[in-house]
Formats: sequence, C-alpha cells, structure tokens
Amino acid sequence: MATAHVCVLFALLSVSLAGDDVKLKYKPATKPVRLFTEEELRRYDGSEEGQPIYLAVKGVVFDVSTGKEFYGKDAPYNALVGKDSSRAVAKMSLSPADLTSDTTDLTEEQLKSLDSIFEGTYKAKYPIVGYTAARLLNQDGSPNEHFKPEDQPHFKIKDEF
Ligand code: HEM
Repeated sequence: MATAHVCVLFALLSVSLAGDDVKLKYKPATKPVRLFTEEELRRYDGSEEGQPIYLAVKGVVFDVSTGKEFYGKDAPYNALVGKDSSRAVAKMSLSPADLTSDTTDLTEEQLKSLDSIFEGTYKAKYPIVGYTAARLLNQDGSPNEHFKPEDQPHFKIKDEF
C-alpha cells in the first residue's frame, strides 16, 4: 500500500517536473546588454544623420535619439553625446574639461543633482542600450563588484550586434 502511494507520488512529481522543464525551455531569454568601449561609444555622437545618438551617464548608455533637438549635430548639447558625460551633467557645464565620467571632487550638491537628472531625465525618458566598460570593469580589468544592471521597464536593445 505504502509503495503504491510512493509510486503515484513519484509519477505525479515527474509529470509536474517535466511540465516545468518544457516551460523553462521555451521561456524567452532575457535580452543581452551591450558593453561599450569609449571608442565604440564615440561613433554615436550625432555627427552622422540617421544614426542613433548615445549618451552615457554614470556608466549607463542611453539612446537619446528622440532628443535630437538637444543632442544632434549642431544642437546645443551635442558636446555631451558619444561619451560618458556624468561630470558635465552633475555640474551643468559644457566646458570640455567636464566632458568626462570622472566624478571625483564633486560637491555633495552636484552629486545629488547628477542622481536626480539620471533618474528623472535619463532613466525616465530614454531607453538603456548598454553599459560602459568602465562601469563593469575596474582599471585592472577585474569585475566591478558594485555593478548592478538597472531594472528598466522600457528596456530596448538596438539590433546592432
Ligand atoms: C543659460 C543656460 C541654460 C538654459 C536657459 C537651459 C535651458 C534648457 C531648456 C529650456 C531645456 C529644455 C527642457 C525641455 O524641453 O524638456 C534644456 C534641456 C537640457 N539642458 Fe539646458 N539650459 C542651460 C544650460 C545648460 C547647460 C550648461 C547644460 C550642461 C550640461 C545643460 C544641459 C541640458 C540637457 C542635457 C538638456 C536635455 C535633457 C533631456 O534630454 O531632456 N543645459 N535646457
């Protein structure tokens, strides 16, 4: 009697596990994120008509093509694109020295402003297309332990691989 119960239980378990297997097999894979070197990111600086325009803030690469009137060729903020412009965004500066990801020596207020523009403007308005190599890897090439991919509801990956 006890053996029969175990058998039935096993059969039920096998069916339910097989079902899960099938479900897992056909689950759509999560979309890959693209990793940009500085050189690759530079190609999306708005200089070529019809090409996407990318801007990185805090190591996150956003597709800002829909903001062409801000970032396109000859537009007022074109200097910010094709690179990580965290420092410029934090300081609200377009001076060439600030067109960098380097945020060292910024004031508490500037860092707060950077975070609020990152959240309120870039994450809210533009799709994320990847991350900069500098965000994922330390200078020596080892992985950056603090890296956590953003959970973007409107994440879209451009078909450019
Ligand atoms: C006299 C100085 C400035 C004025 C009057 C000004 C004004 C504006 C205005 C009216 C907008 C459009 C907002 C919208 O339509 O959504 C804008 C957007 C923007 N401003 Fe300025 N701005 C100035 C300086 C700067 C500087 C120095 C920076 C340097 C980082 C900057 C960065 C930006 C950026 C990145 C956007 C676009 C944000 C987006 O993608 O939505 N601005 N600015």
